[in-house]
Amino acid sequence: MTALHLSARALDAMLGEWVTEGSAYRALADRIGLLIADGRIPGGSRLPAERELSERLSLSRSTIGAAYAQLRASGYLESVRGSGSIAKNPAVDRGDPHESTGVINFTQAALPAVAGVDAALQQAARQIAPHLATLGYEPLGLPELRAAIADRFTARGLPTHADEIMVTSGALQALTLVARTLLARGDRALVETPSYPHAADTLIAAGARLVPVSVTSADQDAAGGWHEEALFQALERTAPTLAYLMPDFQNPTGASMSNDLRRRLVEAAERSGTILVADETTAELNIDRPNSADFAPLGAFGDVITLGSASKMFWGGLRIGWIRAARPMIRRLLSTRASSDIGTPVFEQLATTHLVRQTADLLLLRREELRTGRDALTDALAAALPEWSVPHVEGGLCAWVNLGRPASSQLTLAARNRGLLITAGPRFGIDGAFERFVRLPINKSPAETARAVDALQLAWRDISALALTPDLPAYADMI
Ligand SMILES: Cc1ncc(COP(=O)(O)O)c(C=O)c1O
Repeated sequence: MTALHLSARALDAMLGEWVTEGSAYRALADRIGLLIADGRIPGGSRLPAERELSERLSLSRSTIGAAYAQLRASGYLESVRGSGSIAKNPAVDRGDPHESTGVINFTQAALPAVAGVDAALQQAARQIAPHLATLGYEPLGLPELRAAIADRFTARGLPTHADEIMVTSGALQALTLVARTLLARGDRALVETPSYPHAADTLIAAGARLVPVSVTSADQDAAGGWHEEALFQALERTAPTLAYLMPDFQNPTGASMSNDLRRRLVEAAERSGTILVADETTAELNIDRPNSADFAPLGAFGDVITLGSASKMFWGGLRIGWIRAARPMIRRLLSTRASSDIGTPVFEQLATTHLVRQTADLLLLRREELRTGRDALTDALAAALPEWSVPHVEGGLCAWVNLGRPASSQLTLAARNRGLLITAGPRFGIDGAFERFVRLPINKSPAETARAVDALQLAWRDISALALTPDLPAYADMI
């Protein structure tokens, strides 16, 4: 296997804004350790030589040396004679962290299948026979599923015809199709920050230059939500080709746009010639947001591309998502799709048809699961880590928790040593910001949540003790 040689420039780009208020070497080591632990620097990669990195980051050789020493001490780096410093993922070396017993995975905000998926799959098995006589390729999706999805939009106040729906293999594939269809290299794409990291990666892969606009949780400042001035300025001044937004229960902040903001946003996008892409993957996971009439789908205000998914409402294993768009746009997306895949599996579409028809009832079950998980997380954090600020989560799948100090990368690494996998705040920013935040899922059982919060409390103590007793004093003095 050829080892990836990471240049100082490439590493610099991956690091983003990594400087925190603590010592530089430790912050750098934490950020590099996190990139390795997340797999974004694959194990076996060769890190830049100390001199090269010190020049690139304008830091002393001793600071880089201390950071690498720290990474070696914590098992993230090994020095191989003649090959330099090689990244190593201690968790992978111990076996797959997701499989090993006792490890709690809090990195994914998703739920097991809702009750009803089993029955829907059985029903699909009884209905598959006539489809076997067809070719089975349905690039736009099965007509009955497209109709069921259209009916659900109509029931939510957005009249929709089945012709305006394309079924995809998940919402992420839907975004990939949209990005490949609309973006040329160098085009601007407006994104929220923080945002769903895979979406930002998808836009970048399609060649986009990202234009970030900030969103906050409701309790961090008076109102929370979108930085409206920045949003409208970005649309007016940069006229992005598209804007990727989550108007409901934004991932990870949980914020939702008011109808008034939605209306002004659609008007501003029309003026700037920007195509709005609303990701509604978790839009229907309402726990206790008051007055659903105050939160109409963004598409009800004008011409918008809406992405949806069966993953969070029913089950991620179905791999079914959809796009709602005007007919000419659906035709454009269809021609892009032809070069990547030729349709979504028929069996899962049949099952999803039954589930979509029962959306209103199944959401009641989801709501109770999420309410229980949210309350368990909020109560456990309030008792164990009262200095953290936990927003009131009205819906969606996660809480964007403010630690009160920039220690997210450090906490994430310490939590791994305590058997808990979490995703650090910087993964949700496009430039490495958000060191004060972690995203925690609200969808776990109270027992699992209690174990996770115990591990978080221990990890927080570990890093707080570390902050008081600086190791590597010789290096630290030099920084
Ligand atoms: C906001 C958002 N969009 C899209 C996806 C991906 O959804 P799918 O499983 O349908 O591809 C997720 C999954 O976490 C998500 O949170």
